[in-house]
Amino acid sequence: MASEEYFEKLSYPDAPKIVTSVIPGPKTRTMLEKELANETPTRIAPIGIPVAWEEAAGATFKDPDGNVFIDLSSGVAVNNVGHSHPEIVDVVKNECGRLMHTPDGTCKNRLRLGEMLSELAPGNLKGNVKMAYGLSGSSANEIAIKFARASTGKSIILGFQGAYHGSIGTTLSLTTSPTFRSKYRPFMPFVDRLGPYPYCYRCPYELTHPKCDLQCAKYVEFQLTDPYGGIDVGNVAALILEPMQGEGGYVPPPPGWMEYIYNLCKRLGILIIDDEVQMGMGRTGTMFAVENFDVEPDIITMGKALGGDLPFSAVLCRSDLVSELEPFSHVLTAAGNSMSCAVACKNIELIQDGLLERAKEMGAYARGRLRELAQQREVIGDVRGMGWGIAMELVSDKKTKKPLSMAEVVRIVWMLRDNGVYVLPCGRYDNILRMIPPLVISKALVDKGIDIISDVLETADMAKFSLNWTMA
Ligand SMILES: Cc1ncc(COP(=O)(O)O)c(C=O)c1O
Repeated sequence: MASEEYFEKLSYPDAPKIVTSVIPGPKTRTMLEKELANETPTRIAPIGIPVAWEEAAGATFKDPDGNVFIDLSSGVAVNNVGHSHPEIVDVVKNECGRLMHTPDGTCKNRLRLGEMLSELAPGNLKGNVKMAYGLSGSSANEIAIKFARASTGKSIILGFQGAYHGSIGTTLSLTTSPTFRSKYRPFMPFVDRLGPYPYCYRCPYELTHPKCDLQCAKYVEFQLTDPYGGIDVGNVAALILEPMQGEGGYVPPPPGWMEYIYNLCKRLGILIIDDEVQMGMGRTGTMFAVENFDVEPDIITMGKALGGDLPFSAVLCRSDLVSELEPFSHVLTAAGNSMSCAVACKNIELIQDGLLERAKEMGAYARGRLRELAQQREVIGDVRGMGWGIAMELVSDKKTKKPLSMAEVVRIVWMLRDNGVYVLPCGRYDNILRMIPPLVISKALVDKGIDIISDVLETADMAKFSLNWTMA
């Protein structure tokens, strides 16, 4: 594995560093105001966590005012190999003068990526997948759904409560967050919801694992096998699910649940689409998060960290499934962009070069430190996760587990930002601080980040949020 010195060199040496008396500083504020004036109000970033990005390196970024932040978000699970990794920059420099766009056409980088993904695919999928490329996680999932329907001749797609699969079309209909569903009705037909994805900290059945005997999985079985279950099982093409829910709150399923659900679907002839958009590419310590379980998906979708600094996504489809797909029936003008393919190949190589072990090791270290912190801070209700995909759930009362209000969480997130730590909340109650830094973060930055979190949460404990919360 690369040395600590190597990881330190990838990020700005002086992070975190705050040079303006208020954040956003004057230049950032002007940019935010201009942008808000010319864009739709639908984005979260400029209002939710007001920062602007000037340049970035490794696990750090600078704003236009010269403030330097530790990025504990990886640009939302995108920069797993870090921002502007020198080897990625070299690939972009070398490729851009040669070839970039191909109209979904044949090129060397696309060929190489296909071979790499086929070799990388887990279990029986290794060497037994056909690829399709997209431009975002949503588009990969849309393609996967389209292919699952066409290859089975069935229409219904199943999903779980708490899922996030995308923001358009069928993937939006499968996403259960009311914020993202908003006014965007009507939602797609032929989408059915199974019960809740297991969430042991807030078990809807009020049971505890393993005594629960996986009632949550058994309820899914009941839904799919009871004659009055309400789901037309004979017309179900696929179930799409995340190996650990991401936007839903970094919720890992309990041991045995994933295997139960997969076996059930196999028995019922339902394909499984494993949505690795947020958890794939090493985040959980394995290339695909599903490799943490003893299961075999039929279709895998990848996005975010596959392209990393460039937008890109892929669908890995079990070979036999594609025989039903009609030639010439699916195109996406910019899919398989030559430079994006070259960058994706390099991202895979970098992750294979020690970052899986690093994710396991540093993730375990950070979880340990955060669990110690949870003993000392009233506001931390739970620390959980796999590899470097960690959730810290904030509560106003440890006993009742009452979620900290969104306003209070935003206040904490802003205080962290003001101290040079960038964290993005998520979860059903928006009360999860997700700790998902680039896998190349140095131990020194992990420690600095957690020390700052510790101080901010101590202030939060002391203030008990009696201060009036206002936007800066
Ligand atoms: C599990 C999962 N699937 C799909 C998506 C959608 O990806 P994109 O925003 O690139 O369309 C996301 C985004 O957060 C995700 O977390």
